[in-house]
Amino acid sequence: MQLLSVASEIYPLIKTGGLADVAGALPAALAGEGIAVRTLVPGYPQVMARIGKAKVVRRYDALFGAPASILAAKAGDLDLLVLDAPDFFMREGGPYGDLAGHDWPDNWRRFAALSRAGADLAEDGIKGWRPDIVHAHDWQAAMTAAYMRYGPARDMPKAVTIHNLAFQGRFGPEIFGSLGLPPEAWGVDGVEYYGGTGYLKAGLISADLITTVSPSYAQEIRSPAQGMGLDGLLNGRADRLHGILNGVDTAIWDPATDPLIARRYTARALAARTANRKALTRHFGLDRDDAPLFVIISRLTWQKGMDMVADAIGHLVALGAKLAILGSGDHALEGAFLAAAERHRGRVGTQIGYDEPLSHLMQAGGDAILIPSRFEPCGLTQLYALRYGCIPVVARAGGLADTVIDANEAAVAAGAATGIVFAPSDPSALAGAITRTVRLHGDKAAWQAMQRAGMRADFSWAHSARQYARLFRALVQPAA
Ligand code: ADP
Ligand code: GLC
Repeated sequence: MQLLSVASEIYPLIKTGGLADVAGALPAALAGEGIAVRTLVPGYPQVMARIGKAKVVRRYDALFGAPASILAAKAGDLDLLVLDAPDFFMREGGPYGDLAGHDWPDNWRRFAALSRAGADLAEDGIKGWRPDIVHAHDWQAAMTAAYMRYGPARDMPKAVTIHNLAFQGRFGPEIFGSLGLPPEAWGVDGVEYYGGTGYLKAGLISADLITTVSPSYAQEIRSPAQGMGLDGLLNGRADRLHGILNGVDTAIWDPATDPLIARRYTARALAARTANRKALTRHFGLDRDDAPLFVIISRLTWQKGMDMVADAIGHLVALGAKLAILGSGDHALEGAFLAAAERHRGRVGTQIGYDEPLSHLMQAGGDAILIPSRFEPCGLTQLYALRYGCIPVVARAGGLADTVIDANEAAVAAGAATGIVFAPSDPSALAGAITRTVRLHGDKAAWQAMQRAGMRADFSWAHSARQYARLFRALVQPAA
C-alpha cells in the first residue's frame, strides 16, 4: 500500500513539538506493516538545507499566486515530497510565525497551498507512484481532505489525525473565495465554521477516518467541555473516530544507545544514571546533593499547566527539591522561570529556548519530570521519561492518563507503578503530587522499582502502527 502523509513539520528536519516526532517516526513503523509512506512537507529553509539530491516532480506556474514546485527527495530514511514555494516558506523564523512569535499573517494561504499540493498529488501522483490513501496531520494539512473531496480524488480514502484540537486553523469568511473550492463547499457540511472558515473542521467533515493520539483524548474531545466547538461534529462522526497512542522512536530515544547523553545505561545498571545527573546539575548550575531533581521539557503555555508550576516553585524548593526547566513560549512565563532561577540559585535552573540534545540529557539525568497539563492529547515527554527511568509526575488527562500508572498502594505492592498521577490539574493537586514525589524518592527501593517498571513498559511504535495499518487497510480494501 502506498500512503501520502501531509505534515507541517517532521523530525529531524523541522520540529516545534510532538507532531514532528510522530510524522518522522510513523513512516518506518508503517513500513513494518507493508505500508510505504511518502511525506509532503513545506520547503522551509531548515528542510531545503537538509535534503540531498532533489528532483522536480511537479511544477506550478502559480500556486495561490506564488511560483512553486514539488521536489522528490530523501532525508535519511524518509521519503519526502517537498513543496518548494519560496514566497511562502523560505522565511526566517518558525514554521508558523516570525522570530517575535507572531503568526504569519498569510498562514491561511501557506497551508491551503500545502493542502492543495497534497490533493494534487492524490489526484495525479508522480511518475511511477500514486497513493492509495492520504493521511493529513492537524489543521495545517487538514484541507487536503477537503480539496480531495471536492475534486477528482473524492473516492480515495482520506484520514485526518488530530494532534491538538486547540489549534484549528480558523480564518475569516472572506478567504473562502480565494481557496479555489466550489460554492457548495461553503456551508455547515463543508468548510464553513461558526461563520468563518475552519481548516481542521473542513478536514474532519471530509475525512473517511479520524484519529487522535490517545484513547482518552478521543473520548474527552466528544464532551462540550473539551471539544472546543467540535464536539458536535465529532459525536456525529464517532463511528469514524479512533484514539491511537503515539509511540517512542526507539532508534532515537534509548538510554542504552543514546549518543546525546553523558553515560549510557540500562534498567539493570541504573547507577550509571548518576553521571548524567551530574552533567545535568552542572549544566544548570545546581547544587550537587541527593535531593530529588525535577525537570521540565515543555512549551511554556497554559495547556501545559506551566503557570501552576511557576507558582509551585516555592513549595518545591521548601521541600528541599531542585528543578531544571527547558522550554520556551509565553513571554510572561519565560520571565517567571528566569526570575525563579535568580531567586533560588542552586535550586532552580532555567534555560529558555529549544535544545534537542539537552532534552535527552534531562531525561537521562532527571529524577522526575513534571507534566501538569490541563489537557494533553498524547504527550511524548512522559513516554521518553518512562524509557529513561525519569519518573513522570503527570495530570490525569488524555494520553498522560493512558500511559502512566500511579504509585498508589496497590500498584506499588504489585510492582506495577510507573509514576505519579494527580487530578484535577490544579495548584493544590500539583503541590500534593510534588510532596508525594519527594516522599517516594526517599524510599530508594520503591523508587527503583518504579524506574524499572517504566523502563520495561513497551511504548514502541509497533503496536500503534498495527492499529493504524488495520484502519487504513479497511479503507483501501473494504471488501477484503
Ligand atoms: P507538544 O507537542 O504538545 O508540545 P509533546 O510532549 O507531544 O508535546 O511533544 C513535545 C516534543 O518536543 C518532545 O519531543 C519534547 O522533548 C520536545 N520539546 C519540547 N520543548 C522542548 C525544548 N525546549 N527543547 C527541546 N525539545 C523540546
Ligand atoms: C500535540 C499534542 C501532544 C501530542 C503531539 C503529537 O502537540 O499537544 O499531546 O503528543 O501533538 O501527537
